Amino acid sequence: MDERSAVTRGRTLDHAAKVYDFCEPILLLGKQGAYNREIVALLELEPSQRVLDLGCGTGELTRMIADNLDAARGGQAVGVDAAAKMIQVARKKRGNDACRFDVVAAESLPYEDGAFDAVVSSLFFHHVDLELKQRTLTESFRVLPPGGKLVIADMHLPTTWMGWLVSWTSRWFFMQPQIAENIRGMLPGLMTEAGFSPPLIRAYYFGYIAIFTCQKPGGGHGTA
Ligand SMILES: C[S@@+](CC[C@H](N)C(=O)[O-])C[C@H]1O[C@@H](n2cnc3c(N)ncnc32)[C@H](O)[C@@H]1O
Repeated sequence: MDERSAVTRGRTLDHAAKVYDFCEPILLLGKQGAYNREIVALLELEPSQRVLDLGCGTGELTRMIADNLDAARGGQAVGVDAAAKMIQVARKKRGNDACRFDVVAAESLPYEDGAFDAVVSSLFFHHVDLELKQRTLTESFRVLPPGGKLVIADMHLPTTWMGWLVSWTSRWFFMQPQIAENIRGMLPGLMTEAGFSPPLIRAYYFGYIAIFTCQKPGGGHGTA
């Protein structure tokens, strides 16, 4: 029997699962590889680490993370998405043994406290409303140990007129108030409210997609 999608108010992409891998490189203007590599570099992975990828879609980033991990040493990249059809596509192209995909809503994670060394997400937070953004960040905090790293790449305050045009057009074209929360600059405040260290912006793509890093305080690690 087909696995069911997770129940969530988030804007899931079951309907787009078959075309997502065709569309995303176009939406990212051919920079998807460089963008994903930058996120992976910011994670500063060690082979034995466990990494959770929220709203993983068809799993490109999860697989790239898993390529840097070693299952024999306990390393694992777990990609979660509420859309079962996205996870089906991701599983079909499953990478190495360190790669796993689960149908899970990001705001309600079925993992133990401190189960992951790092949590990452790309282009997920603009798919969920304010309360789900808050719940997802609280859950991310819970599944990380002190010193655990959070890397979020998502829509944020536009920095160029083209970024402004694309992001606000997306908000109205897709009728997505969740996007407005992002591009009004709410994500960093939500991360600190959840308990994380003040996030740093490490890169900007297209004038409206920022990559943030921050940490769960403690653990004797350096700053994000
Ligand atoms: C734009 S896609 C991003 C996919 C991938 N991370 C990437 O960068 O290509 C957003 C994903 O978030 C998923 N999603 C939406 N609400 C969700 C939720 N509450 N929990 C988990 N995934 C969710 C959608 O199904 C979709 O696959």
